[in-house]
Amino acid sequence: MTDAQIKPVPTLPDAQTVTEVEHYTDRLFRFRCTRPQSLRFRSGEFVMIGLMGDNGKPLLRAYSIASPSWDEELEFYSIKVPDGPLTSRLQHIKAGDEIILRPKPVGTLVLDALLPGKRLWFFATGTGIAPFASLMREPDTYERYDEVIMMHTCRDAAELEYGRQLVESLPNDPLIGEFVGDKLKYYPTTTRDDFAHKGRITENLISGKAFADLGLGIDKLDPETDRGMVCGSLAFNLDMKDILEGWGLNEGANSEPAEYVVEKAFVD
Ligand code: A2P
Repeated sequence: MTDAQIKPVPTLPDAQTVTEVEHYTDRLFRFRCTRPQSLRFRSGEFVMIGLMGDNGKPLLRAYSIASPSWDEELEFYSIKVPDGPLTSRLQHIKAGDEIILRPKPVGTLVLDALLPGKRLWFFATGTGIAPFASLMREPDTYERYDEVIMMHTCRDAAELEYGRQLVESLPNDPLIGEFVGDKLKYYPTTTRDDFAHKGRITENLISGKAFADLGLGIDKLDPETDRGMVCGSLAFNLDMKDILEGWGLNEGANSEPAEYVVEKAFVD
């Protein structure tokens, strides 16, 4: 057989290979894949990923990269929507499968879009924790701020599990543990089952319960010292904008850093 007769194995454009998959609930899973050598990104950014559609065209969605910028692989945390065009199929991927990944990272949930401060707040609902899974593993986060507070609200405890396991592993992590030290505080809540702390992030901020439970001795964020990053559903993001702006924080961007930034979590 001559070279010309050898049929090339069909590969996807921008193909990456899945290395690991872990399912948390019937609605949530994470997976890791190879990282294109050319991909440079800032922790907190997102890329377009997906699978080849039945029509032969790539079916892509925006996904926050959940791994930090220094990791040699990439991690993603995803919802599974039964009739979602992409996630109904993506939820079945296994190690060794290929996904499509466009290596063009973008996003506003980056440390560079915030002014310096003392305390950094991460506010997430559901899969909105993904960009913070990246930023919590980023040494720069701890070099820029004295204290980092991860607030995460889900319907029930099982949905908090990805974040809980990650947060609890960080102080002892051989690579990032020394940066994290005792700077990272975690405040998980649920809204639909029994749990140590209950209620929506928005309610717990307005009532002051979150500040009291964290033992901070404050009753709101201070635009002089506090910085916020918000990632969740559209309704959550809008409610958080109102709260933060009511306390005098302004929305920042890459081009004009300010006191808080916001981005919508991926929904299929
Ligand atoms: P709730 O159970 O009261 O709706 P979902 O799984 O639907 O994406 O929601 C994730 C979490 O975000 C749930 O705990 C949900 O609370 C909460 N949530 C939804 N909308 C808002 C909002 N506007 N403000 C604060 N929390 C919200």
